[in-house]
Amino acid sequence: MSEKSGNVILKVDHLSAAYGGIRAIDDISFYVNAGEIVAMLGANGAGKSTLLKCLSGEHKRSAGEISFDGQPLPGHCHQIVEKGISIVPEGRQIFYKLTVLENLKIGCCQRNDKEEIQKDLEMVYKMFPRLEERKNQFGGLLSGGEQQMLAIARGLMARPKMLMLDEPSLGLAPIIVNQIMDTLRSISESGTTILLVEQNAKKALELCDRAYVMNVGHIVMEGTGKELLADENLMQAYLG
Ligand SMILES: Nc1ncnc2c1ncn2[C@@H]1O[C@H](COP(=O)(O)OP(=O)(O)OP(=O)(O)O)[C@@H](O)[C@H]1O
Ligand SMILES: [Mg+2]
Repeated sequence: MSEKSGNVILKVDHLSAAYGGIRAIDDISFYVNAGEIVAMLGANGAGKSTLLKCLSGEHKRSAGEISFDGQPLPGHCHQIVEKGISIVPEGRQIFYKLTVLENLKIGCCQRNDKEEIQKDLEMVYKMFPRLEERKNQFGGLLSGGEQQMLAIARGLMARPKMLMLDEPSLGLAPIIVNQIMDTLRSISESGTTILLVEQNAKKALELCDRAYVMNVGHIVMEGTGKELLADENLMQAYLG
């Protein structure tokens, strides 16, 4: 097997999370191996974004253990970024009134290795030439696809060990979705672990090594991308 197997980078055990009295995640356990692309699928309200928010420190879990890179996950967002987890959030959340370059600099605001930051800037510009062309333009003037590119590039500027993405294909034309998926593949090939939340199950399953399916707060299925793609009941039962 490849180096992807066996070397667990993220381990989630019996995680629960709630909003007030409403349980959004109920006792889920899963793992991600270093170098893998793991997809988390599920219909609206399954708890996917809540899971990523627990992993990025934006939402406090009510129970369970999370370990990352051999240690318990710290509690605060900035500590989690320092440990090597970066999130591309639902709805992109770029700053409309900052330029593309300023948005990118926010992604690396916790770093002070100037020369390496410059290298990473060149790397994301190479990945997304459109961003370099538009580097002095306000984020809010970018197209939807360009905003998604900026959100991914900003996530990479933290130089994460694991990049988490929440619905990167949402609202984008099929050709742009394909470009985003190709980009995720090349990010993975460069050694970054990827945890991908998607409603576009087919695209995600084609891309990923393994996937989990969530339904109302639980993990209800898991398998390799190939296995789940071949499962005729999956779409009907859980993905609408
Ligand atoms: N801020 C919040 N306050 C209260 N309830 C919330 C909040 N955010 C999410 N929820 C609830 O938690 C549950 C899980 O929501 P979550 O956003 O994690 O689902 P999701 O799988 O990301 O869905 P989608 O595919 O629509 O993005 C839902 O029942 C939702 O209504
Ligand atoms: Mg969501």
